[in-house]
Amino acid sequence: MPIQWFPGHMNSARRNAAESMAAIDVVIEVTDARLPEASSNPMIAELRKFRNRPCLKLLNKSDLADPAATRAWMDFYNAQPDVKAVQISAKNPAEVARIPALCRSLAPHRDDGTKPLRMMIMGIPNVGKSTLMNALLKRKVAKVGDEPAVTKHQQTLDLGAGMTLTDTPGLMWPKIDYDADGYMLAASHAIGRNAVIDEEVAAFLGEVLLARYPNLLAARYKIKVEGMDGPALVEAIGRRRGCLVKGGGLDLEKAAQILLVDYRSGALGRISLETPETRAAMVERQAAE
Ligand code: G4P
Repeated sequence: MPIQWFPGHMNSARRNAAESMAAIDVVIEVTDARLPEASSNPMIAELRKFRNRPCLKLLNKSDLADPAATRAWMDFYNAQPDVKAVQISAKNPAEVARIPALCRSLAPHRDDGTKPLRMMIMGIPNVGKSTLMNALLKRKVAKVGDEPAVTKHQQTLDLGAGMTLTDTPGLMWPKIDYDADGYMLAASHAIGRNAVIDEEVAAFLGEVLLARYPNLLAARYKIKVEGMDGPALVEAIGRRRGCLVKGGGLDLEKAAQILLVDYRSGALGRISLETPETRAAMVERQAAE
C-alpha cells in the first residue's frame, strides 16, 4: 500500500516558509545522505526557485551512508545550477563549522561588511535540522528527537559575525509520487510510525539490502541470504532472534523492528538506499507502468 503523510500543521509551515523566503539570502536544505533524492522536498526547490535563492544542499548523516553512493550524489547535485552540495555529519562540529563560509560564497553580494547574511534551514522531518541548528549556534535551541516533526514553529536567531539563522519545522509535501520514496522515508524514520506498517517497510528495506548489501546482512544476522526476498529475510531474522508470539508463531512485527532499528542506527553498516543510477531506473520503471 503506498505511503502518504502530510499532517495538517505543515500547510501553515509551508506558508510561513514561503513568506520567510523573501527575506533570506541562502537556503540550507538538509537531506538524508542515505536517500538524498527521496528526502528532498520538491516544494522547497519550488519556493526557492520562485525567489531565486541559492541552495547549500547538505547530505547529512553521511556517517551512516555508503561513501561511494554519497560521492555519486555529490557529483549529481553539484552539476545543478544554484546548488552547492556538501556531505556532512551534523554531529561533527568541525564539519558544521564550514557551513557559514559556504553560505557566504553562495551570496557574495551580502559580503560588503554592512548587510547581514540571512540563512534559513529547511528540510523534511528527522533529517537533522535541529542537530545542525544547535551545532551552528553552539548551544541547545532546538529540540532533537527521533520521532518526526518535533520542531513545530519557526525561529530566527543571531549567529554573530553578521549572520542570522532561521529554523523551520520539518516540511513534507502533499503527495509522494514514487511508492519507493514513501518506503525509503519510512525506513529512515522521516515518516511517523502511525502512518506506516513496520512489516511492509522492513520487507521493502530487506529487498534493497538483499540486492545491494547482502554481505552486511549475512554478517549481522549470521544467516544465508541467497535466494531470499524481503519478507523471507524478515522471517529469518525473527527465527534467528527468537521473536515469538504467545503460542509459538513468529512475531513478525518485532522482527521487522529489529531490521529497521539496526538500519537506522547504523548497526548494519554504512548503507545508502538509492544512488543516481537506481533512482533513474526507478523513475523510468514507474513511468512505463
Ligand atoms: P530534525 O530536526 O530534522 O527533525 O532532526 P533532528 O535534529 O531531531 O535529528 C533526528 C535524529 O537524527 C536524532 O537522533 C539525531 O541525533 C540524528 N542525527 C542528526 N544528524 C545526524 C548525523 O549527522 N549523523 C547521525 N548518525 N545521526 C544524526 P535521535 O535518535 O533522536 O537521538 P540521538 O540519540 O542520536 O541524539
